[in-house]
Amino acid sequence: MVEQRAGQGDEQHVVERLRAAGCVFAEDEARLLVEAATGSEREAMVRRRVAGEPLEQVLGWASFDGLRVPVVPGVFVPRRRTELLVDVADALLRAAGPGAPVRPVVVELCCGVAAVSAALLHRRPALDLVAADLDPAAVGRARRTLGDRASVLEGDLFRPLPPRLLGRVDVLVANAPYVPTSAIATMPPEARLHESVLALDGGADGLDLHRRIAGEARAWLAPGGSLLVETSEAQADATEALLAAAGLATRVHRDDDRDATVVVGRAEARVG
Ligand SMILES: C[S@@+](CC[C@H](N)C(=O)[O-])C[C@H]1O[C@@H](n2cnc3c(N)ncnc32)[C@H](O)[C@@H]1O
Repeated sequence: MVEQRAGQGDEQHVVERLRAAGCVFAEDEARLLVEAATGSEREAMVRRRVAGEPLEQVLGWASFDGLRVPVVPGVFVPRRRTELLVDVADALLRAAGPGAPVRPVVVELCCGVAAVSAALLHRRPALDLVAADLDPAAVGRARRTLGDRASVLEGDLFRPLPPRLLGRVDVLVANAPYVPTSAIATMPPEARLHESVLALDGGADGLDLHRRIAGEARAWLAPGGSLLVETSEAQADATEALLAAAGLATRVHRDDDRDATVVVGRAEARVG
């Protein structure tokens, strides 16, 4: 009983320090930090959080689609809005119907720590999944997370993909950077100071990566395959126009609760 009271006192002290540092969800965060470690290890974690490091990087995991996905300092922290990408990909795989491959080919570009791939594999273990990213730290973490369930490659967009995937990808997903360069300065410090600029910077209009992905996607998609791109509500029309200009039949999915937008471009199946 005495020990329990001391524990609760510790947690309250952490709440007060987090609150003083401006953490909006101080109670929830304190509970997670107190659960995660004790003694000097806990103290070091609280200090990192008070200094402004994202909670997920301090804890070493992010909650995503019901999973605890491991993250490492400096890499992009998976956001809840990106679960819409998983929902839409899952629905497309489910709708594939008779004649669909037993192990559909899924590629995740700009995978970061591979939260989307991990969530898709959790929902559908029978995927031939390849993920890729340019950032070696993200690739290393993604490889450890996905293990032998997927192949994780390092390189610029499509460049590291094996030629065997040309014309064979059923679902191609990408949460690529889409923040306009000039808007990075206005992002919360947690993102601006603790995530790599490579993970955020989408170029002058935020669409550099979307432009490049749309331009190359058709060569990799199977007939009837789909490209899914996360974007912002404000950029949705422009992202959709890029996919349409690449000859894909487009559709926009929006989820206001998660402030999430996904543009889908489908390569028409060949007739006859
Ligand atoms: C917004 S983060 C998203 C990460 C992950 N998809 C997620 O949702 O958690 C964008 C990712 O794109 C990667 N990236 C940026 N430019 C790239 C490029 N030219 N080729 C491959 N990956 C790139 C970054 O390293 C970063 O991991």
